[in-house]
Amino acid sequence: MPRTLTIKKVDGKPGQVYYPLQLNEVPRPVPGPKEVLVRLHAAALNHRDLFIRQQLYPGISFEQPLLADGVGTVVEAGADVDPAVARSLLRARVLLTPSRGWAADPRGPEDPNPASFSVVGGSALLPPGSGTAQDYALLDPAELEPAPPHLTAAEAAALPLVGLTAWRALVTKGLGAPDADAAAAAADGINVLVTGIGGGVALSALQFAVALGARVFVTSGDPAKLERARRELGAAGGVSYRDAAWDKQLAAQLPASRPYLDLVIDGAGGDVVSRAVRLLRPGGVISVYGMTVAPKMDWTMQAVLRNVDLRGSTMGSRAEFRAMVDFVRRHTIHPIVSRVVRGLDDIAAIDGLFEDIRAGRQFGKLVIEISPEGEDSAKL
Ligand SMILES: NC(=O)c1ccc[n+]([C@@H]2O[C@H](COP(=O)([O-])OP(=O)(O)OC[C@H]3O[C@@H](n4cnc5c(N)ncnc54)[C@H](OP(=O)(O)O)[C@@H]3O)[C@@H](O)[C@H]2O)c1
Repeated sequence: MPRTLTIKKVDGKPGQVYYPLQLNEVPRPVPGPKEVLVRLHAAALNHRDLFIRQQLYPGISFEQPLLADGVGTVVEAGADVDPAVARSLLRARVLLTPSRGWAADPRGPEDPNPASFSVVGGSALLPPGSGTAQDYALLDPAELEPAPPHLTAAEAAALPLVGLTAWRALVTKGLGAPDADAAAAAADGINVLVTGIGGGVALSALQFAVALGARVFVTSGDPAKLERARRELGAAGGVSYRDAAWDKQLAAQLPASRPYLDLVIDGAGGDVVSRAVRLLRPGGVISVYGMTVAPKMDWTMQAVLRNVDLRGSTMGSRAEFRAMVDFVRRHTIHPIVSRVVRGLDDIAAIDGLFEDIRAGRQFGKLVIEISPEGEDSAKL
């Protein structure tokens, strides 16, 4: 029988509780008239999935399958799906859009009610069955993008949420660019700092910024991650954020021809403003998509006097998702996969992936392989 992976409710306070994983058997879903059925091949974890298990995320569900990232093959289409759309989708390998409720407005979701926007996976705000930790998902065809053919299933599953978040934080908010061409013109030769490079969003931001022609510097708590970012991914330099003088060390690495940062892409928060303000050019931009260190961060008078522009950025719209996937296809970018485990039923191994996030061991994405590709017949 098909399976879903959820969390199980146990007693405990937010931040102290750690909801166990639970595997459930469910009937094979039947597409409604306007839906398609996707056989999932792989799904990937994000930091929010750890927050969900710790009850540190709003609107969590104990019934919904976990996880926002997924890749699969369309195996059935409902009777009212447009025949041309059905023909193009059946047997196609597709990426699932990781959120709902935001079409295209560059400022944010069109509906100002915060409940109108939700990330897929473990969310009580979405219809039943929304999540990628399951064998089959029912979807509106409009929520699917063709998976770039150069990606393995694990790489494809590693892309959606972090790719979308990095695209918006870097391109739309950081560079203020409406599309990839404008982003390339704005990024050419500028200095960008991406913090906490072991993270999935940070690695995507590094890959996209390098592909756009920027000179990219990184921070990490782990010297081995700094080295990999330089050696394998084109970072121009990097420093450890564990070092009290990291901002001075970074200043020494900036080229004499452009001895300042133009843009900071940050997912950590903490003291990033007071550090970055010493490195940014007047009017430089700090684009913040997360606060891993603490849910509040500093804002200083020095940053005001330097005309620093602090911009918050969350996920992205359906239109930004399409633009990001297209960019990855055109630049044959391979998302970085840290570790893969095989089987939705290997709860111990999946728990191990969560432990990687908790300990900050990962360099890139943590992926669960659910079913082999090319086997529509792998029916359950
Ligand atoms: N707003 C949104 O739409 C959105 C979307 C996705 C994620 N987020 C948030 O963004 C953050 C990162 O997400 P992710 O999925 O990429 O996380 P992740 O894969 O779990 O990585 C988190 C990274 O944070 C870095 N880090 C820890 N302490 C740091 C510090 N003091 N200074 C700089 N970096 C530090 C670590 O980098 P090193 O390993 O290199 O030390 C670690 O790899 C999380 O807080 C997440 O909730 C927000």
